[in-house]
Amino acid sequence: MNLINQPIKINQYTIKNRIIMPPLVCFNWADTDGFETIDRAEHYGKRAKGGTGLIIVEASAISEEARIVREEVGLWKDEHIPQFERIAKRCHDEESVVIVQLVHAGKAAIGNPVYSSSRIELEKKECLEMPLEMIKQVKKDFVSAAIRAKKAGLDGVEIHGAHGYLLSQFTSKEVNKRTDLYGGSLDRRIQLSLEIVKEVRDAVGDDFIICYRLGVNDPSSEEDKYFAKKLEASGVDVLNVSAGIGANDIEVPDDFPFNKIVYMGTVIHDVVSIPVACVNGIREPEQAEYLLENNLTDLVAVGRGLLADPEWTNKAINGLPINKCYHCKPRCKYLIDGRDCPRYSELS
Ligand SMILES: Cc1cc2nc3c(=O)[nH]c(=O)nc-3n(C[C@H](O)[C@H](O)[C@H](O)COP(=O)(O)O)c2cc1C
Repeated sequence: MNLINQPIKINQYTIKNRIIMPPLVCFNWADTDGFETIDRAEHYGKRAKGGTGLIIVEASAISEEARIVREEVGLWKDEHIPQFERIAKRCHDEESVVIVQLVHAGKAAIGNPVYSSSRIELEKKECLEMPLEMIKQVKKDFVSAAIRAKKAGLDGVEIHGAHGYLLSQFTSKEVNKRTDLYGGSLDRRIQLSLEIVKEVRDAVGDDFIICYRLGVNDPSSEEDKYFAKKLEASGVDVLNVSAGIGANDIEVPDDFPFNKIVYMGTVIHDVVSIPVACVNGIREPEQAEYLLENNLTDLVAVGRGLLADPEWTNKAINGLPINKCYHCKPRCKYLIDGRDCPRYSELS
């Protein structure tokens, strides 16, 4: 596995190889005040020890209102810093670079009412158009959380712009019906994300990684490409390409051996100069090597694979067999409680 094991530079950091752990949240491993109840330094430390070059710590809430569920790790107050300090130390001890994903869930947040780019009819709660004053506060919350991440000794942050959460809700033409400066044209719909990137950059300085989780959005991949270039120009160091809202027009060439999310990662890789990570369903070391060999991506994110086998990267590099994820249906058991993962008991 020659190419997996090639270092790559992101910002000032040398990532020792091309495998990254994408954010994988474990709800219920936290109390209702954003504090972990299960030791994440141990959890991420194992994946770092297993050789992972870059670790992106799971979605962490930038404010109480931003949470996806009540039991979610937070970075909205200084008291949350020590739990990230421990993670940073453990990952650094194993020579992994480690950043944290920052999230605002928008209409998917807890609370009632919730706020999104526009007013939306929801079944169980009210969702209102986010007022400008609140948008200002959201920007401040992203910045404050990023500063806390830096204080904790992490190497950077990932801004969550995918999976239909708040920033996706702004960039999406389907959801965003605003008539002010944050709605309408593509430039206006991506404005909030770009402002957040810029304000975070101003606050954390040049030598801190800013990753953006880009959700490939409706209505066209042309918009994704434009947005990716704008993110690059705004100071993003690395793009982690995943699903957005819609993504309807993505046509994957017949001979492309991965799904449309991976395909979109490769499309974005073609249009920017900063490193890009592809993700989704990449399970085998040979698949990662194929993507790198064909210059389709710079980094390969292995999510469930790394949950099932913390040693995935070292084993891949050394040609050893990996413990494969069972791909539980209807969804990954790890999401609700990592201890339900069938591989968990084998690991602990
Ligand atoms: C249990 C679980 C938790 C996840 N948590 C997050 C998250 O916190 N933030 C995020 O952007 N994506 C999250 N995802 C998506 C993953 O980062 C990744 O994109 C997805 O698992 C596909 O990659 P894989 O096929 O290698 O697992 C999660 C996925 C799973 C299965």
